[in-house]
Amino acid sequence: MKNIVVLVSGGGTNLQALIDAERSGIIKGGKITCVISSKEGVYALERASKNGIKSRVIPRKEYPDIASYTKAVTDALIAEKADLVVYAGFMTILDEQVTKAFPYKMMNVHPALIPSFCGKGFYGLHVHEAALAAGVKLSGATVHFVTEVCDGGPIILQKAVPVENDDTPETLQKRIMEQAEWKILPEAVSLFCQDRIEIRDGKAYVK
Ligand code: GAR
Repeated sequence: MKNIVVLVSGGGTNLQALIDAERSGIIKGGKITCVISSKEGVYALERASKNGIKSRVIPRKEYPDIASYTKAVTDALIAEKADLVVYAGFMTILDEQVTKAFPYKMMNVHPALIPSFCGKGFYGLHVHEAALAAGVKLSGATVHFVTEVCDGGPIILQKAVPVENDDTPETLQKRIMEQAEWKILPEAVSLFCQDRIEIRDGKAYVK
């Protein structure tokens, strides 16, 4: 059984999707053993406690820079014996200390079809604002491995979702979460836990 540690910063609907998937047997070969939040008081922490999952808060605002913050998170992940680290709405970009400690062992869900609308500054509703401003007719979600390049690691799974004429950032976000993120994130986690993801020439392939 692989230990899955989930990093969160907010509401935690993706964390909930993982908890539900574990309960219903969709995630094979892994178990969520700890939730780490970058903020106190977020609803994701409530979801962890309601489901009997251990949580830790490592507040970003208590650290002077990204290096000291990354070290604190990396130390916690090592202490938790994480086999897989999942960024589920985790809003801090950590530096290479963590990617070196957990190479191809961290995945992130991003609410767009990478390489569109991604990278620094593209998070949460900003991603959907940018997609609507560009007038794209399809957006979606991507699950990818986390490397030192922000949103640039090997893509594991993607799912497209239609954009409607009267969408707002909020309605598009909701449709992408429901139709894409909450499905492909648990699926990618399950594939990882069954050792079914292979890296070749810097790209990820499902076996
Ligand atoms: C999700 O849409 C997730 O894809 C996005 O933030 C939201 C968090 O929601 N993540 C990013 O934008 C990261 N670049 P949640 O807390 O309800 O899972």
